[in-house]
Amino acid sequence: MSERLSLAAGQLEHALERGGLDEATADKMVENSLGTYALPFGVGLNFSINGLDRLAPMVVEEPSVIAAASNAARMVRAAGGFVGELLGTLMTAQVQLHAVPEPELARARILAAAPELLAMASDAVAGLVARGGGPRELEVRDLGDGYMVVHIQVDCLDAMGANLVNTVAEALGRRIAALAGAELGLRILSNLCDGRRVRVRCAAYAEDLEVPPHAWQGQLLPGYSGDQVIDGVVRASEFAERDPYRAATHNKGVMNGIDSVVIATGNDFRAVEAGAHAYASRSGCYRPLSRWRRDGDRLVGELELPLALGIVGGTLRIHRGARLALDLAGIGSAGDLALLAASVGLASNLAALRALATDGIQRGHMSLHARSVAAAAGASAEEVDLVARELAQSPSITLLAAQRTLGELRQRRAAVAHPAE
Ligand code: MEV
Repeated sequence: MSERLSLAAGQLEHALERGGLDEATADKMVENSLGTYALPFGVGLNFSINGLDRLAPMVVEEPSVIAAASNAARMVRAAGGFVGELLGTLMTAQVQLHAVPEPELARARILAAAPELLAMASDAVAGLVARGGGPRELEVRDLGDGYMVVHIQVDCLDAMGANLVNTVAEALGRRIAALAGAELGLRILSNLCDGRRVRVRCAAYAEDLEVPPHAWQGQLLPGYSGDQVIDGVVRASEFAERDPYRAATHNKGVMNGIDSVVIATGNDFRAVEAGAHAYASRSGCYRPLSRWRRDGDRLVGELELPLALGIVGGTLRIHRGARLALDLAGIGSAGDLALLAASVGLASNLAALRALATDGIQRGHMSLHARSVAAAAGASAEEVDLVARELAQSPSITLLAAQRTLGELRQRRAAVAHPAE
């Protein structure tokens, strides 16, 4: 990993220049471009996934997400790291039919023609088939009232796959409608890609979860034993399992980690969000994507969701920052990337629940907020942490308070450097 860091250090300056994307390239990516728009690019630390150490590239505007995920990953590491598996690799193309005169007959005719349809689909994505991917199976669903939909499942290998899947849907549409004697409707992928799910599990020992007593804004906070933290996180999980209002916020904490990896690697975060929340609602009630329980003296967590990520094509070809992100993480396949993103999601979730079940989320947020206020007050890189530490103990973290603290710090230092004769 240190090799990867130093290799990346050589690439960093160039790769992240102008946020990894110049204006001319941006203008080719979208319409009416006025320029580029930067976000912080950070690195999540301490991740061990299926026995391999990985740096986690994270692009996110929210303070404390990267620090919190790295901290949780350190606790998980001590209990063996994240263990993950891919539950399928298939993306779904949908071909909608309407005004289907006889649904059962239509289903029978489409299924009987499956070999022909899959061959047509393979021809439409011949390059993918040559690389070992391609259409795998076909399914017909009756939606009632003359509506039907045909799903074609496609293995897109290391691509996210939207273009490939849409190509398949469009190539087959007319033939499927003719077989059903129906009108042809939409031909597009489904972002509920539950044939391309990922599951990660992790554990943390009570002793590593403990929150020691500490001073905060002039008060001494009591601290929490590891067992208290485990019970608190399990109750937080059960709260989310019972209440969709809480489940939404619980999942937001998961997506803090996932989205930041998805964005860093140039992937489509709207697709990932759409799939995650649709999957969270699959029972008819919106539920948490992760779950936490006690196992002896360990807290154990599990996260499962659809995750369609690519490491080839699209933005990745042209965005230097996205390429750097993949290099930094040592990602060799779309599956590796899905496991990494899900692990960062589970770590973010653990960090949030541990904070919420103990001191509350504001303490961590405020310490980091204090750093940005200190910087805004004019503190140098070397002064920022000193000012932020003092500021975090004051009842209000304002620019005025930061300027006062900085002034006092400089006076103290001047007095030490030039003691009065
Ligand atoms: C804030 O970005 C995320 C949290 O609200 C997540 C949660 O409540 O679990 C802290």
